[in-house]
Amino acid sequence: MCGIIGYIGPRNTIKVLIEGLKRLEYRGYDSAGIAVMHKGEIKRVRVKGKICDLENLINEQLILGDYGIGHTRWATHGEPSENNAHPHIDCKGEIIVVHNGIIENYSFLKNTLIKDGHIFVSETDTEVIPHLIEHYYEGNLLDAVKKTVKLLKGDFTFIAISKNELDQFIGVKNGPPLILGINDKEKIISSDLAPILNFTKDVYHLENGEICYFSPDKIEFYDFEGNRIKKEKTVVNWSPHMIEKRGFKHFMLKEIFEQPHALRETIIGKTSLDEGKIDFDVEPSFFKNIENVHFIACGTSFHAGLVGKYFFEEICEVPSEVDYASEFRYRNFLVEKNSLFVFISQSGETADTLASLREVKRKGGRTLGIINVPESAIARESDATLYTQAGPEIGVASTKAFTTQLGILFLLALFLAKQRGRIKTSKLKKYISELHIIPHKMEKFLNKSKDIEELANRYYTYQNFLYLGRWVNYPISLEGALKLKEISYIHAEGYPAGEMKHGPIALIDEQTPTVAIAMRDRVYSKILNNISEVWTRGGKVIAVIDEDNNEIVKEVTNVIRIPKTEEILTPFLTTIPLQLFAYYIALRRGTDVDQPRNLAKSVTVE
Ligand code: G6P
Repeated sequence: MCGIIGYIGPRNTIKVLIEGLKRLEYRGYDSAGIAVMHKGEIKRVRVKGKICDLENLINEQLILGDYGIGHTRWATHGEPSENNAHPHIDCKGEIIVVHNGIIENYSFLKNTLIKDGHIFVSETDTEVIPHLIEHYYEGNLLDAVKKTVKLLKGDFTFIAISKNELDQFIGVKNGPPLILGINDKEKIISSDLAPILNFTKDVYHLENGEICYFSPDKIEFYDFEGNRIKKEKTVVNWSPHMIEKRGFKHFMLKEIFEQPHALRETIIGKTSLDEGKIDFDVEPSFFKNIENVHFIACGTSFHAGLVGKYFFEEICEVPSEVDYASEFRYRNFLVEKNSLFVFISQSGETADTLASLREVKRKGGRTLGIINVPESAIARESDATLYTQAGPEIGVASTKAFTTQLGILFLLALFLAKQRGRIKTSKLKKYISELHIIPHKMEKFLNKSKDIEELANRYYTYQNFLYLGRWVNYPISLEGALKLKEISYIHAEGYPAGEMKHGPIALIDEQTPTVAIAMRDRVYSKILNNISEVWTRGGKVIAVIDEDNNEIVKEVTNVIRIPKTEEILTPFLTTIPLQLFAYYIALRRGTDVDQPRNLAKSVTVE
């Protein structure tokens, strides 16, 4: 939550900051601001609203900048307003800071600084940072920052510049990510790779407890004790075109259509069909003697964990549990020697998931990350990591990350089944071969996306939806409902269809349509009964069914036909119409699909 950026180099600073903030906007978008230095003077512009509002204001004011910093905000302390928007400054207006995170002891620090004569003008926790730096400043910004970080508690990643030390930047990481990109002529520091990719692939990932100090001709790194440290540069393998919309109206739609490619990228290199083999970039011994698995995640990644539970029970017969990270971290959970704790996260920086990982590690548990963003905190702190190869996901509502997470979970289930001798090679090969065909089946379905658009046009005015599924498609009903809620603001509930009679059936009337996933699997006849129960009570039913199913049409209002696959693999396909349905309904309702209200993509605060 919140995105920060800093730039120094020959390009137009204002343009670089604005373009960079647009790429970071998915992290938070209730207010924004920049501060630039021009001929030794600071100019600061802030707005309540989005980056385009900031851009318009800047264009009106004809501002010039030699270098500068910027921020896009998701409010935690203090309402979204111009006054609370970053950058924040000290009393003299000489030290300027953009911050991502939460300073837990800000209230104490603020009161102490006020007693010391400092004047605060915002309701934010961030404002204590420039005032503390001011308090310690004796002619050297780096020294003052080193003293400041020792007093801060909580998550704080920030960039500071000062009018008194031209061309110098200080970046501090303790919590949310901070990456410094460099080339011969310029330096750009940012919360993630998206703004950096157009400049360079050479980056330094800061770790918690690190400070970087740079100017046009130098880069130095320090720890919080003030000691100079050495850091290795890494080369990223994402390219700039991955973060463009490429003709799609929204990132979300582009990402839905990228799923076949993303899934192929994720599974192909890890599987050998001929040998019936699965190869991960992790020592096979890491997976030895696993007796039970705990999946821990938030949001859509949590739903992937739920599907993972069905995969694991079915394929490798390993008992598994799934927990919301926000609940798990406060449970008195037991860590057994043969437990594996799996942390699923697109961003690799979700605060609750990261905190759960740290808690498991503290108790000595074995940890595995299933992560999309390379070098992210959860990826680096897990004992081992399996990467989804979805590429950058920009739309706030997760789509391609989800199906690639399913891909990794399925491969992991197969891998463990083989390692434990629970699967015949012929069966393993059959599953791998069917998994390889899934991207093609996704493409086949996506070619008919117009049908889903038409369906959405019929249903976009309804205010309540029920999503029903059973067995491996029960989590998909939750995910379908979540997608609709997130981007169209329609109330939707996902439910295991068998639980309907215990409450939700009371909601059924002609104004509450039901989306039922009714694939011809082991629970097909059961879900048919549930559909009848809705139908006989006057409810409209949209059924997601196998492409050759003609018997169901009498008791449903509409059908969505899905290419056939193995019953355990159906979630890869049933999820896609639900993503498209939510997308087209949101489009019709005119909501901000990629940046829905109140949400942020990376939830780096608790
Ligand atoms: C936010 C996003 C969701 C995402 C969840 C977990 O709520 O809006 O799309 O599923 O965080 O994020 P993670 O990066 O840990 O998968």
